[in-house]
Amino acid sequence: MPRRVAIVAGLRTPFVKAATVFKDLTALDLGTAVVKELVQRSEVPVDQIDAMVFGAVIPNVAMPNISREIALAAGLPKKVEAYSVSRACATSMQSLTSAADSIALGEYDVAIVGGVESMSDVPISLSKPLAQAFVDSSKGKTIVDKLKAFSSVHARDLVPVPPAIAEYSTGLTMGESAEKMAKENGISREAQDAWAHRSHSKAAAAWANGTFAKEVMHVLVPPKFETAITEDNLVRKDSTLEGYAKLKPVFDRKYGSITAGNASPLTDGAAALVIMSEEKAKALGLKPLGFLRSYAYAAVDPKWQLLQAPAFSAPKALKRAGMKLKDIDLVEIHEAFAAQVLSNLQAWGSKKFADEHLGGAEPMGEVPDEKMNPNGGSISLGHPFGATGARLVNQTLRELNASGKGTALISICAAGALGAACVLERE
Ligand SMILES: CC(C)(COP(=O)(O)OP(=O)(O)OC[C@H]1O[C@@H](n2cnc3c(N)ncnc32)[C@H](O)[C@@H]1OP(=O)(O)O)[C@@H](O)C(=O)NCCC(=O)NCCS
Repeated sequence: MPRRVAIVAGLRTPFVKAATVFKDLTALDLGTAVVKELVQRSEVPVDQIDAMVFGAVIPNVAMPNISREIALAAGLPKKVEAYSVSRACATSMQSLTSAADSIALGEYDVAIVGGVESMSDVPISLSKPLAQAFVDSSKGKTIVDKLKAFSSVHARDLVPVPPAIAEYSTGLTMGESAEKMAKENGISREAQDAWAHRSHSKAAAAWANGTFAKEVMHVLVPPKFETAITEDNLVRKDSTLEGYAKLKPVFDRKYGSITAGNASPLTDGAAALVIMSEEKAKALGLKPLGFLRSYAYAAVDPKWQLLQAPAFSAPKALKRAGMKLKDIDLVEIHEAFAAQVLSNLQAWGSKKFADEHLGGAEPMGEVPDEKMNPNGGSISLGHPFGATGARLVNQTLRELNASGKGTALISICAAGALGAACVLERE
């Protein structure tokens, strides 16, 4: 029998707009900070940790296995083995489920899982012709040979190339793909703006009433490490619906509906969880925040609707949990774009969608508003790609504990037209 997996502790850094207060911290710095503090706070004996599974969506070529680097930099025992995962915006959901499988099978007892993203510190690469010239030059035997390799490089090839937030297979950016979804699913600008306003209003209320106090650490920033960043800096405390209506579309300037207000922003941050077998938690006298009951991944054609795979992964996770939507107390949806959230919700509730895409199965159902994202989501809190999955799991379990409720469904859309979902339970 597979062993039951407990989530014992979780923590995240504040999530901040890229190129602001964390601009001098790397992904390694942010990941290390969160893991160090999480381990201290959780009181898990470090010699009990078997493994660390972490991920960043935009990798740094200098540290291809960032998980191991964070484990070493955080001072975990050298015997803690570590590997890195990547599943776009569901990366730290993948960290969780990969390590959870190993715990369920008895390979690990205790693992640290999570993810990080520093959009302030993305690797900038060379153009293809310039990179090729460097490779050719390195093979040259004489100085003349070495210089000759650069003879076909044009001035335009000298421009550095930042990583694109675009689908490799379609060439479309995330925003352009979300525009396509908004149009095909009939999601209006007004509905998107109302969702974004809801997200900011709920996140601002959660910060004001202390909801996030235990799940967000303080981070000291360079150069003097005297200033502490204590809160997310993207949440709009003065959000008004009228404010959103004034913003111009970004990805389709003429006919579009996606703006800086109803899209998730480019963000820096890290999040991590401590997970272990239920028996281990009992043996260590630790009270779990909750348990992983099921999970599922799905994929669709990126040329169709890039962020619609949660329409498949969420019902699959519920089925694996042996549950229906009515058995779920809380639904947490990753908000890449308001248009994507509203498209996913529409598909879950649609008989037509179920007939056309789920082989005539019962639709998953309509999610009551009061059950969804009660403390905001990625539009307001921010979305450091690699960290969002772990942020969601921690936030969801803490909300279940605070409200005395029992079950939750988490849904994440991800680049590559992937969908991720998991069911969590408190008891
Ligand atoms: C949409 C995007 C291009 C906007 O980037 P940006 O221009 O840096 O955004 P800003 O935060 O500067 O906002 C632009 C303006 O809108 C305003 N604004 C943003 N949100 C607002 C809101 N909720 N209410 C009122 N005004 C708002 C800002 O104040 C700013 O105004 P200013 O120009 O007068 O200062 C960027 O966030 C992005 O690329 N997001 C998508 C990331 C992505 O792909 N996520 C999905 C991954 S699955």
